[in-house]
Amino acid sequence: MSAADTLSFQRLNPSLGVQVTGVDLADPAFRSDGTNLFGQIYRGWLDSGGVMVIRDQNLEPEDQLAFSRRFGELDPLEGATVEPYLHPEHREIYRVSNKVKDGVKLGRQRAGVYWHSDNSHKERAAKASLLYGIEIPPYGGDTMFSNMTVAYEALSETFRRTIDGLRCIHDFEKAKSGSFKNETVTDRHLTTTPPISHPLVRTHPETGRKCLYLNAGVITGIEGMDPEESAALLDFLYRHCIRPEFVYRHQWREKDLLIWDNRCTMHYAVADYDGVGERYMHRTTVFGDRPV
Ligand code: OGA
Ligand code: MN
Repeated sequence: MSAADTLSFQRLNPSLGVQVTGVDLADPAFRSDGTNLFGQIYRGWLDSGGVMVIRDQNLEPEDQLAFSRRFGELDPLEGATVEPYLHPEHREIYRVSNKVKDGVKLGRQRAGVYWHSDNSHKERAAKASLLYGIEIPPYGGDTMFSNMTVAYEALSETFRRTIDGLRCIHDFEKAKSGSFKNETVTDRHLTTTPPISHPLVRTHPETGRKCLYLNAGVITGIEGMDPEESAALLDFLYRHCIRPEFVYRHQWREKDLLIWDNRCTMHYAVADYDGVGERYMHRTTVFGDRPV
């Protein structure tokens, strides 16, 4: 197939999600931009609500890295808690998998089993994550996404006025006893990413639209509020954001490349495939700017 046989976009869900077929990201013509397709793909991604799936890709690590770099500078994740799962030869690839070979885990197991936005505990929180499905269980192992722009816009104007301007504390230490309790989290990990405050309502730097910015795994509270006030407000928002109307649930096929926008979506890895089958994925992560 040439780089663009019939590039086509299909909406997957009213809330978010676009599927792309008819492009070969590994084709040298695409990689050198001889096809001029990247601009269309990028705009389609921004218009998708934050999730694009490009089907039927045969991507070697180099292909995924080259494509990912077109979204921006990659976060190498070196020194992060997930370091043991970086690809041995391609350090900017982080492996997510339940596979074990000769007693060694081939990737991080049960990564992202809570509603989150990648790396929100960092100053340069992730812009995009690209996850390539190499082995997929026969069923199960879906990934869910919520559209935080639509969720924000569904709030009453009065409520929106109340929360505009609030800031949340994102503290990786919370993950140590939560989503990362089965990983090694050292003092060095915690001191390299000290608690950071990000706006609860952020403006997407490219679409200009406002959205909620949350991560249940690391947010410890809202700046300036008593813990009970903050817990009540956050509890409402976490429930609100994941209303079925705002959620797209991705059923993986082998060779899917998923690209999500961490600035305006949250995601949740459904951990229901233990004993069902093996799942093996390569993730690349693109740095974002500090949220505003
Ligand atoms: C991730 C993540 C989702 C999944 O890689 O950031 O949350 O379904 N993974 O594996
Ligand atoms: Mn994630």
